[in-house]
Amino acid sequence: MQGVPQPRREEVLNLPRVHISHHPVVAHKMTALRDRRTPPTEFYRLVKEIGALLAYEATATLSLEPVEVETPLQKTIGQRLAGGIGITPILRAGLGLAEGFREVIPDAQVWHLGLRRDERTLQAQEYYNRLPSTVNLQVCYAVDPMLATGGSAIDAISILKQRHIPRICYVGIIAAPYGLLRLSQAHPDIDIYIAALDESLNDYGFILPGLGDAGDRQFGTF
Ligand code: PRP
Repeated sequence: MQGVPQPRREEVLNLPRVHISHHPVVAHKMTALRDRRTPPTEFYRLVKEIGALLAYEATATLSLEPVEVETPLQKTIGQRLAGGIGITPILRAGLGLAEGFREVIPDAQVWHLGLRRDERTLQAQEYYNRLPSTVNLQVCYAVDPMLATGGSAIDAISILKQRHIPRICYVGIIAAPYGLLRLSQAHPDIDIYIAALDESLNDYGFILPGLGDAGDRQFGTF
């Protein structure tokens, strides 16, 4: 990233279809997540908890359909989600976030997608893909804690778009202004939900102030 111009945080705060959480519980948990002393077990638990809170925010506009239900007293009309929900964890750091989503939507389908960022070129490379060939979803959420240069997220969304899902959203924990702007420009037709917008990327493409490497910190592989 050396010498690459980056937008300032203020310049990307009001991008269309970008939702930055204002929830105080999310902000509280973010501080523990950033803390270098937080051990992997607790880090993973926090990623899951933030995932559940972001799932609550990101599912607020899902479509419903009426359905008859019989209470112990009488019949009435209730509502149910109109169509399936998919979660695509971008491996491996997206796994904890996906678990948090599943606590909110336990019957969601989970479509694993492995993308690895080459530390030298910062380009994402696909190494695993378990997306089903038949799709019957109203929405699919691509989840990954880190939006750094945006390369992995842009590629993941492009791969999901090949499956003709009616609606695709990206959900992350922290984003750098550079990656957020790139993702929003590459895929202006998706909603982006994040817990926090950070300041910048360092020369090696790491988010500042950030939280380190979310994959290593969840799984203890330092
Ligand atoms: C990290 C992170 C994102 C990606 C972000 O994953 O979890 O997937 O890098 O960087 P980008 O926005 O510049 O593409 P990494 O490739 O390190 O793999 P991991 O999840 O296995 O740790």
